[in-house]
Amino acid sequence: MKGFTSIQDVARLEDLLSLARSMKADPHQFTMLGRGKTLCMLFFNPSLRTRLSTQKAAQLLGMHVMVMNLNSDGWNIELEDGTTMNGSSKEHIKEAAGVVSRYCDIIGLRTFASLDDRDKDYEEVLMNKFIAHATVPVISLESATLHPLQSLADLMTIREQARTHRPKVVLTWAPHPKALPQAVANSFVQWMRASEVDLVITHPPGLELAPRFVEGLKVTHCQEEALEGADFVYAKNWSSYTDYGKSVAGWEDWMITEEKMTMTHNGKFMHCLPVRRNVVVSDAVLDGPQSIVLEQAHNRVYAAQAVLKMLLDEA
Ligand code: CP
Repeated sequence: MKGFTSIQDVARLEDLLSLARSMKADPHQFTMLGRGKTLCMLFFNPSLRTRLSTQKAAQLLGMHVMVMNLNSDGWNIELEDGTTMNGSSKEHIKEAAGVVSRYCDIIGLRTFASLDDRDKDYEEVLMNKFIAHATVPVISLESATLHPLQSLADLMTIREQARTHRPKVVLTWAPHPKALPQAVANSFVQWMRASEVDLVITHPPGLELAPRFVEGLKVTHCQEEALEGADFVYAKNWSSYTDYGKSVAGWEDWMITEEKMTMTHNGKFMHCLPVRRNVVVSDAVLDGPQSIVLEQAHNRVYAAQAVLKMLLDEA
């Protein structure tokens, strides 16, 4: 593994899942592996889970950890080559990535979707330029269009909780007052496709995900039909891919409620968090026995620990 920015970087998914399970069973078994090594995590937007779980994972492997919020604490970064930097950008990504590479052994990078320019977001311009100029492996802590550490933890959680060999997993769009990226949904679909599940995606008309992610999958605009017999209900808002970045009003009744959960096969409720209560999901579901959102967040530690170990093994 040269880096970790999508499921395509994973040669053997079952080995990675098995390693994550082993880390959970005994988180301290490799405390010497990262001795003398440093993880530097750079964030272009806020984070609670990704930041703390990845920091904890690195520390469990004996690594030092440095964290920087680039938006508030760093210089404005220029991405274009050959530009005359006489505007607001003070540091070129070439120097930024090169310098950080000299301070650490692995870089964790969280970028963001502009939600303005679909082509640039889906080209992952910031993540890819940083990787191009870095000289150490880069782990995605979420990018414009993918969130692989979240998806690994999600898949691990589904495997732990599944009652059947091939559970029915429903990815349902949920309401949200602000336009959000498609990263979590895209990534979840990729990881579910690689696993033994029956995946159904449901969303209101006009909120289709990118064709490259959903081609060949069952997609319905009827949420009730999708929820019927579900073993897992993964709720997530995303903004429009076709009318890029636009959020839509009028679908508040897509919130997940206790009544909707009764349509499932005593299904488990999942969300990557943070979640807006009584907008995305009702208090009763989130606080009830079907919710496994805290187990998901817990597994973020072992997902990150497994990925970091694989990178350290190859260093
Ligand atoms: N799920 C997730 O990535 O949470 P944070 O944004 O808090 O890191």
